[in-house]
This record gives sequence, C-alpha cells and structure tokens, in this order.
Amino acid sequence: MKDIKSVVAKKLEKSIEQLSWTDIMDNLEYPPNPEMGDLALPCFKLSRVLRKSPIAIADLLVNSLDIDIVEKCESKGGYLNIFIKREYMVNNILKNMVIGKEEFGKSNENAGKTVCIDYSAPNIAKPFHIGHLRSTVIGHSIRRLHEFRGYKCVGINHLGDWGTQFGKLIVAYKSWSSKELIEEKGTEELVRIYVKFHSEAEKDPSLNDQARKWFSRLEKKDEEAVELWKWFKDISLLDIEKTYKMLDISFDSYAGESFYNDKMEPVIEELKHKNLLVNSDGAMIVNLEEYNMPPCLILKSDGSSLYATRDIAAAMYRKKTYDFDKCIYVTATAQDLHFKQWFKVVELMGYKWAKDLKHVGFGMVSMGGAKLATREGNIIYLDDLFSEAAKRVLDIINEKNPDMEDKEQKALDIGVGAIVFSDLSNNRIKDIDFSWEDALNFDGSTGPYVQYTYARACSVLRKSGLIEDDINMDNIEPSHMTNDEEFALLKTLSLFNEKIDQALKDLEPSCISRYLIDVCMAFNKFYNSHTILNAEDNKKFRILLTAAVKYVLGNGLYIIGLKRTERV
Ligand code: ARG
Repeated sequence: MKDIKSVVAKKLEKSIEQLSWTDIMDNLEYPPNPEMGDLALPCFKLSRVLRKSPIAIADLLVNSLDIDIVEKCESKGGYLNIFIKREYMVNNILKNMVIGKEEFGKSNENAGKTVCIDYSAPNIAKPFHIGHLRSTVIGHSIRRLHEFRGYKCVGINHLGDWGTQFGKLIVAYKSWSSKELIEEKGTEELVRIYVKFHSEAEKDPSLNDQARKWFSRLEKKDEEAVELWKWFKDISLLDIEKTYKMLDISFDSYAGESFYNDKMEPVIEELKHKNLLVNSDGAMIVNLEEYNMPPCLILKSDGSSLYATRDIAAAMYRKKTYDFDKCIYVTATAQDLHFKQWFKVVELMGYKWAKDLKHVGFGMVSMGGAKLATREGNIIYLDDLFSEAAKRVLDIINEKNPDMEDKEQKALDIGVGAIVFSDLSNNRIKDIDFSWEDALNFDGSTGPYVQYTYARACSVLRKSGLIEDDINMDNIEPSHMTNDEEFALLKTLSLFNEKIDQALKDLEPSCISRYLIDVCMAFNKFYNSHTILNAEDNKKFRILLTAAVKYVLGNGLYIIGLKRTERV
C-alpha cells in the first residue's frame, strides 16, 4: 500500500495547505474493518492546526480525492474513510508481486551506499551462548533489510579473541587438561577448564597472578603463548562455524579484537596529539565529564589497551577500508554506555563520521530469572538448544508424516527456525526469560507456523501446474476478486514494502516477523473458506494470489533468516 498511501497523501496535501505530505503520511492509517475503508485519515489531530472541527475537516476533504485509484470517500465521525478501487489492487498491486517474485520488496534506493554491520562477535574459548545468538540473528536480519534496500553490506564478526581470559586458559590448560582432551572435546573442554579456573582461583588467588603473567607473555608475542592462543582460537572457531552453518549465516570479515593489536598505537598518538588523553592515577583516559559520562579508559596503568581502545581503532580502520555511510553495532543494551563513550571520543577527535556510528541494543537473556554467565557455568549451549529443537520437531514429524523425505534436515531447519523466530518476535529491546516451552511451542505465532504456511502455498502452486517463470496477468479481471477474504489478504500482502521501511527505520526485525504472522492468518482464512484449484472463472486469480503469498512469505522468511521450507 506504500504507493497508494503516498499517492493519496500527495493529493490530500494539495487540498490542505497547512499540512505537509509527511504529516499526512504519518496520519493515514489502516482501518480495522473493511466498512471503514481501506485507508483512513483521522482528522482529530488536524483540528488544532486547521481550527476546524474534525467532522468539518472530513467533510471538506470528502470530495477532494478525485484520483483514479480511489473508488469513493466517506466522512464519518471525524474520519475520512477512503476506498481503493479493486481494479487497482488487482492490476497493479497483485501484478507487482507475482512479476517481482524474489525481487518483490527490493529496491535500489540506496545504491552506492555502504553499511558495515558488526554482529555476533562471540568470545573465543567461551561458549557460543544464547546471548550471542541474539546479536547473530538480529544483526543478520538487519543486514538483509539493508540489502533489500540496495545498500552494500559488510558483515563483520568482531570476535572476542584477545584479553586476559587467554592467560587464564593457558594456566588452566597446563594444570587440568591435555592436548588430546581439547582435540577430542573442543570448546566444551575449554569451557570446562575456564569455569574450573575461576572456582580454583577463589581458593588459590596465586593462579590469577600466573594468568596475568601468561597474558603479558602473550602480549609480548612469546612463542609458546602465541601458539597456544592460536590453537584455542582455531578449536573454538570450528565449533562456532558449525553454528553459523546451521543458521546459514556468513561474514565478510572475521577481523576480531586481536586484529587491532598493532593498530592502536597510532590512535593513542593521535589522541595525545589532539590533547584528549589525560593521566589518571597512571591510567590514560579521555575525560567525558562535560558530557555527563564517566571517562573513557584508553590505557590501563600497566600500559595494556582496553575494549574501547580496540573499538576506536576498529572504527578508524573500517572507515578507511570500507568508507561506510553507516556502521552498526549489534550488542546487548548492557553495553550502551561503552558505545556512547567511545562514539563521543571519535567525535572529539574531530571525525564527522562519528554521527554515522550506531549502536543497536537488545535485551538480556536470563533463564528462570537467573543471569547467564560463563564463569558460573550457567550456560545454554546453542548446539544443545538446536538439537533439542530438532529432536522435538522430528518427534512431531514421525507422528504425523513418518514418510517425509529428508526429515532430519527438515526437522533441523524448522527447529532452528522456531528458535530464531521466537528471538525475533518481540521488540529487540525487551529482556527475554528463556524457557524451552516457549521457544519450542509450535502452535500459534511461531516460526514453524510461518514455514508451514509457506509450504502450504508452495504445495497449492505445485498442484496448480503454474509455471512460475512464466507468470502473466492475461485474462485476470478485477471482478475475479469475489470475496472479503481475498481482498483482506491482498491488502495485507500489499503492506510488505511499508513493513520493510519501518523495520529498517527502527532497525527492528520484529516488524517483519509479526507481519508474517498477519500474512499467514489472512492466507489461512482465505484457504480455509474457498477452494483454489476447483474454482471456476476465478481459478487463475486465486492461484496468483497464492503465488503472491509464496513470494511475500518467502522474502520475509529470507529477511529474518529462516529457511524457506518448500515441502513439509
Ligand atoms: N565480544 C563482545 C561481547 O561478547 C561483543 C563485541 C561487539 N562488537 C564491538 N565492536 N564491540 O560482549
């Protein structure tokens, strides 16, 4: 409806001098039921600006929409209700969808612009847990939204592959593990000894000193330390990549924190040169008092760098390498202050592009009210989560459709989809208290419901014999749309572009997941009340409507990173 809305707004703008096109766009809404029109302009807010009663405004406007897409207008109780010609809905809107197919919803309005998206970023030798899953799926979807609107996207995995934890790991490895064990068990063993380190260090604090020493050896490029660090990193990456494979996610760059080891010195020099660095008890900081923030720590008193130091160096590197128009960071809202601080530092350094840095936060994940923390061993492993989900889906398949082809892979796709969808179905900012029951609930507004509806549309199309490469609108008449379910479905489908715009503006993938549920409900309502393949004159219309459902659902699933399950 994006185009309809904007055409209508353009016309209305001409009738109301005091209002801009954007004002009208913001005010136009979709009425809850068809008797109230397909679009409506509530005139209450306009009343103050125009110094007229809402009813008088609606009366005034009722005859102004003499454009060929509008069937009729009504003034009712302060609303201007607008009815769109069915002919236009069928000949233009439906046509765009079935001709557009995989391209429907895409535009190149941002061609030539580059956006860097920093997401996932798990920490090496720690479990890839459900908190990082959030960054991964939200970031991935934000990336696809940008791609749909023509941006060139650079997906960056800023791996946590540097820091004092490597000192701890080396000590832990030497004390309680072996090459064989780590090679056999991978990350699981690394996590086991990491957790053990913390409980042992409580009893014997000298372990912390040893760990510090090992980390400082690593920073000085001591051969043994570097070799162990690399090995831990490789072992860990193998497991991490398995997870990405299940999610079907890949990155353009794996430049993690260690990548910036030799890129911080010039940044520190520059900060000094620009008189931004202050000595505070031996540490080097940038004072941000004026901006009501605690200082940004650049160097510890022992001379080692910090998370923020690396982020500043990384941003400069990315600007130089990719010349981004926007650089987006997807992490928990717990890191809000960190980003605000170093964004400010970049601004104080005089870089105009500081305004193009954007932090996209999301809520915390807890389990049964308890925070998830690696150190305490209170972790949900993604592998376990995905295999449990797949197992539960497989049980359902075995019960309902035991002969299904390739059922293990499908169970995995649907199980993973269920988890991803549940992660993306609420505003990202909301905290999540994780429960197996909710994540794997296959009824209601869930991923499996959308994937299943998609498969249903595909199955209708297969049976219809429609050749999708050769879709045309020949012999389609607006009069073929004979009932409210079809019209309601077509209207819902037509909102796709607007939902993409909204999701992109708010960097909010849940706009798309919620919308997909609306499409599924509208399609299932139509599907359950009307025959498609046995219809008479309007059989082709109904098949094309089903094809439009397939493309909109398919493109939506793609954006939120779920597999398109053609057959289930
Ligand atoms: N590894 C970090 C964490 O787990 C996230 C890194 C996010 N990206 C960044 N450029 N700071 O908290």
